[in-house]
Amino acid sequence: MITVGFALCGSYCTFKEAIEQIEVLSKDDSIKLIPIMSENAYSIDTRFGEAESHIKHIEHITKTKILHTLTEVEPFGPKKTLDALIIAPCTGNTLAKLALGIADTSVTFAAKAHLRNDRPILIGISTNDALAAASKNIGSLHNTKNIFFIPYRQDSPLNKPNSMIADFTKTKAALSSALKREQVQPVVIC
Ligand SMILES: Cc1cc2nc3c(=O)[nH]c(=O)nc-3n(C[C@H](O)[C@H](O)[C@H](O)COP(=O)(O)O)c2cc1C
Repeated sequence: MITVGFALCGSYCTFKEAIEQIEVLSKDDSIKLIPIMSENAYSIDTRFGEAESHIKHIEHITKTKILHTLTEVEPFGPKKTLDALIIAPCTGNTLAKLALGIADTSVTFAAKAHLRNDRPILIGISTNDALAAASKNIGSLHNTKNIFFIPYRQDSPLNKPNSMIADFTKTKAALSSALKREQVQPVVIC
């Protein structure tokens, strides 16, 4: 049995796809899933749904309370809670913080606490500026020990030329590779 954190950041339009993967991983008896949400993901209602409804749905699937504060994720470091941490969807905001070692949210602090144990993080990007302001952060994280990516692609090259999004259906395969400290390939898909 392995313990995997599944953290969602505020890319609300991809919650449905991410939650489908939470469902897939929850059905695997060899995985204990710990749901995590950034403060923004946990609290903001948007046109993609109400926070409370997402929370209830995720807690129903995982049968586990969502961790969403700094104090709740802090033990990840000393207790070595997680074998791997998935951050999907990962916003441009959280990518920037991860690239710079900033740890001021539940998700970025979970990442910092977890990395201290030399264990893998798997990132599923979803950001309109992946090929603009976030590109240097994605590049930097590709070049960072213990950071791996769910394969991603441009989601709307003509309408949103700088946008890229993970193929969330590849989460489980990418997790298997990340646990072996390997990046699943191809990482950039079309
Ligand atoms: C409706 C809505 C949709 C958003 N979608 C995205 C998105 O897909 N990708 C992204 O990087 N930011 C998106 N944002 C902006 C983030 O939610 C914002 O940068 C926030 O500070 C992220 O915080 P977090 O990274 O701690 O979750 C969206 C915001 C709103 C209100």
